[in-house]
Amino acid sequence: MDTLRRLRAVFDPAQFRESGHDLVDQLADYLAAALAGRTPVLPFTDPGAQLAATPMFGEEPGSHVKEVAEDLLRRGFHLHHPQTMGHQDGLPVPAAALAGLLVSLMNNDPSVFETGPAVVPIELRVLRWLSDEIGLPQEAGGVLTNGGSLGNLTALLAARQARAGFDLWSRGQSGGEDLCVLVSEQAHYCVARAVRIMGWGDAGIVQVPVDARMRLDPSALPAALAEARARGRRPIAVVGSACTTATGSYDPLEALADFAREADLWFHVDAAHGGSVVLSPRYRERAAGLERADSIVWDCHKMMMMPAVLTAVLFRDGRRSYETFRQEATYLFEERPDEEWYNPGNRTVECTRPASAVLLYTALRVHGVGVFREYVTRCFEVARMLAARVEAAEDFELAMPPDANIVCFRHRRDGPPGDGLHERVRSAILGSGRYYLTSVELAGKNWLRCTLQNPFTDEPEIEGLLETVRAAVRQAQEAGDS
Ligand SMILES: Cc1ncc(COP(=O)(O)O)c(C=O)c1O
Repeated sequence: MDTLRRLRAVFDPAQFRESGHDLVDQLADYLAAALAGRTPVLPFTDPGAQLAATPMFGEEPGSHVKEVAEDLLRRGFHLHHPQTMGHQDGLPVPAAALAGLLVSLMNNDPSVFETGPAVVPIELRVLRWLSDEIGLPQEAGGVLTNGGSLGNLTALLAARQARAGFDLWSRGQSGGEDLCVLVSEQAHYCVARAVRIMGWGDAGIVQVPVDARMRLDPSALPAALAEARARGRRPIAVVGSACTTATGSYDPLEALADFAREADLWFHVDAAHGGSVVLSPRYRERAAGLERADSIVWDCHKMMMMPAVLTAVLFRDGRRSYETFRQEATYLFEERPDEEWYNPGNRTVECTRPASAVLLYTALRVHGVGVFREYVTRCFEVARMLAARVEAAEDFELAMPPDANIVCFRHRRDGPPGDGLHERVRSAILGSGRYYLTSVELAGKNWLRCTLQNPFTDEPEIEGLLETVRAAVRQAQEAGDS
């Protein structure tokens, strides 16, 4: 009896209502403060201190949701702050966060229609819309999965099944030819990781050189293909990046598509970051040729203002995705997986999944598509704003004009890799709590790297950034001299 009373208290609707209202009030205040830049960007403390400050829990009730939220909001990293410009994490729209609450409580699993009667159709609607935005044909289809890394693995598994030349899913790799993929040396590491997960080792990746703008050089593809064959590997796919992680460079997708057709390869595009460009009428040309890909990965948690993680894996021919994971499971699936368009579990590594589609669907229904188009365009424009300021300043150097919303630049007095100045400068900036930015090494030099993902970043934040970098370089040098 006691047990049931305790469990009923856990599920008490009145308590839920009260804590929920408190939480929404806290989040609304937080949002206002972060958007206005009244919070620090992040608390730059060492991991041990953060761990020590994180309370444990006991056998008995101890806290309220409100206290946990207060703690998290105070000690967290603030993506809505307009001086956050580091990695590619998106700033979620509040409507998606509310939808997150909704799907968490309902917990409807979209792996099969029976457990997700409302959320499976929503996922299918979202996938249809994403495919249409790219310009894929009507027979396109796919699935939502958890993150670009898993998405790229899912797509490459499909490529493998389609092009291995034998039923690798059933027979296994033994007895078949050694396979490989061609991919730019600037591709995200998860592509190489996926290849290694598939068991092809180091030789499963054939790196293709890039040009000065870090875009895959298509003239190098025939040599890469020949080299792979000479080493006894059969290339089955060419992988493009749209865009790359380090510099936001778009590979020449039309040229890659032509090459893939001529060489009879699967054409996969990792558009995790830059796929959203197709929403922007002004910039969508950057990804021209994306619609020719056999498979595409598109992360909505990067450039679509969605919380992590929400990744679409799309196939030109949607039937391909069923072949990848042909699985007998009479307790879950029906007889003919290709006819079970309403059971997405046939098309992904995962079984149970969160109903993430609802987050994007809610945001699109509430706000309409138009504002998402404006958002992408705006972020690309903010990147141009920063690049123009850097180019105009004598003491800064721009790595390259940005293709997307990622800008790499350096102070001319910054030292070479390994001299420590660069990291001291970045640590000083992060330590000030004023800006969050990352760094990358390119062509033998250190660069500061900004992803302009917050549409509210504007002239004052850009000017302030360059001033902050100047001051940090001065201080680091003075400290080094003394
Ligand atoms: C181009 C690209 N592909 C894949 C990934 C991996 O995506 P996720 O972090 O969602 O696994 C990233 C992440 O930064 C990326 O930039």
